[in-house]
Amino acid sequence: MNYQNILADNINGICYITINRESKLNALNKATLAELHTAVSAAFDHRDVGGIIITGWGSKAFVAGADISEFAALDVREGMALARDGQKNVFNLIENGPKPVIAAINGFALGGGLELAMACHIRIAANRAKLGQPELTLGLIPGYGGTQRLTQLIGKGKAMELILTGDMLNATDALLLGLVNHVEADEELIAKAEEVMNKILQRPRLAVAAAITAINASLKHGVDGFETEISEFGKCFGTEDFKEGVAAFLAKRKPEFKGK
Ligand code: COA
Repeated sequence: MNYQNILADNINGICYITINRESKLNALNKATLAELHTAVSAAFDHRDVGGIIITGWGSKAFVAGADISEFAALDVREGMALARDGQKNVFNLIENGPKPVIAAINGFALGGGLELAMACHIRIAANRAKLGQPELTLGLIPGYGGTQRLTQLIGKGKAMELILTGDMLNATDALLLGLVNHVEADEELIAKAEEVMNKILQRPRLAVAAAITAINASLKHGVDGFETEISEFGKCFGTEDFKEGVAAFLAKRKPEFKGK
């Protein structure tokens, strides 16, 4: 697939998606969001891909936000459509996907950039990363799920302060708040993301997907997460990988999962 705004490469079971608009600090315009939708969907469907690592091209930005130049002409109805389509086609797609998605935050993750990272299942930041939701400085609020996912990740009080002030966090403060899982030296960022991903890729795929679904259910309005867990737990008993995992444990050998 030939993309204009992103790069997508499948290597050793990992799909590397790189936002590639360095001159605009990798800002998410409509075309980039459409390509992200296509690339993420393709990676979820590809049997040789076990997970996705998303990062930004260059040393300055992961993603510096939605593309502000596309906002100027929008009215109320178009603003709602932009947020609704983006949430559905990219951010919710990633969060609810069956395969792990890791954000490797290599620089600025602002506005839609932090929202993209928060839709991922795990976030790893480079030391130089700066994270924030500066939308209020433009007279807006976050529209790609930021008010919800930031609150879920760091709690209401801190989310309120970060969004209302528009302040940026450095990587260390983001780690202290639980907004990112790890902070690494800039040049070690991708290696750390690969280390975490490769550990997950050793686990059976259907169980990984079941865990993602059950954990996500804990934060879904109108969904009983405990019931989701019961259902996903039960389904695991019907998989070949479960039989192999238990048989291997009892025989004191390493499991060989088919669904890897
Ligand atoms: N949308 C569109 N273009 C953007 C952008 C965005 N979110 N963020 C950066 N750019 C563009 C700039 O317009 C500039 O383009 P130009 O060279 O054609 O003028 C280029 O990227 C480089 O950005 P610049 O502002 O010159 O870099 P900087 O180092 O001075 O500042 C930031 C870096 C991240 C602090 C600054 O770019 C910024 O504040 N960006 C917007 C962040 C934001 O509000 N995001 C939320 C959007 S809802």
